[in-house]
Formats: sequence, C-alpha cells, structure tokens
Amino acid sequence: MAEDLLIVKGSKTDQYKTLLPQVKSLIETEPDLIANLANIAGALKEQFSWLWVGFYLVKKEELVLGPFQGPVACTRIKKGQGVCGTSWAKATTLIVADVEKFPGHIACSSLSRSEIVVPVIRNADVVAVLDADSENLDAFDETDKQYLEEIVGWIHFDS
Ligand code: SME
Repeated sequence: MAEDLLIVKGSKTDQYKTLLPQVKSLIETEPDLIANLANIAGALKEQFSWLWVGFYLVKKEELVLGPFQGPVACTRIKKGQGVCGTSWAKATTLIVADVEKFPGHIACSSLSRSEIVVPVIRNADVVAVLDADSENLDAFDETDKQYLEEIVGWIHFDS
C-alpha cells in the first residue's frame, strides 16, 4: 500500500496542521510501537528536513536509541545527561536555541545547532523522548512544542 505524505510549504503552523492528521492516520490503526515511532520520525523528517529526528526509549536506567531519521547517533544516554537526559529527568519539553550554550549537551553531530526534546509521559513516568536537531540556530519554538507534544500523546506504549 502506498503511504505518500502530502508535504506543504508555508508557515510552521500550516505545515504542522497538514502533517498532524496524516501522522494520526498512519499510527492510529497500527498497534506496533516501533512501526509507529519509525513512521513519526519519517514523517517529521520529510516535512521539516531537520538534521536528525527520532526517539530514545527509557530502558532500565538509561535512554536507548530508537527509531530515527538522520546521521548515526549515540546509543545510550543517562538520566540527567545532555538535553535528552535532562528532559527525561525534569519530565518537561526543552527547547535549546543554541546547543553550544547548553551545559552538557551531547554532540552526536557537529552540525547540530539547536534542538527540541519532548518527553513521552505515561502514568506519570517518562517512557521515551522525541528529539529533533536542526542545523540552524533557534529553529524550534512554542509551535513545535505544542504540536510535537500533541503527536507524542497519540503513541500507544502499552502494546
Ligand atoms: N544532543 C542530544 C543527544 C542526542 S542526539 O542529538 C541525536 C543531547 O544532548 O541529549
């Protein structure tokens, strides 16, 4: 079955508004977690052409690399380490306008200039984080936070 995304140009809000229903329909009838994380990463990469976008999954006391699009990345991140580990520890979305100014930032790619990390919270626990990296400074804002938090809210983690 063909799964073509409709990609639009325009404001960031317009891009998310076109993308979100497509992501929802891709994942709502599919129970497999890895398939859904992979398609979310693929859809976001296709629409926004970020340097890197993907998931880290909480496994025991670490974040472990999950489905992603972009250059190879570090596989394990400890709680409180880097932007991802800090987002996990604080259970909150972090927007980093300039990664060089974030103490402890983990540079998986030297091309990354700004980053957003959105925790996936289920039953009050962080079970994963969605991480996106851009080659541009200050690429992420409250609009990304709003729509990416909406997307991660749709992921079924109990299957
Ligand atoms: N920069 C992240 C590490 C993950 S990569 O960007 C894919 C961090 O500081 O947690």
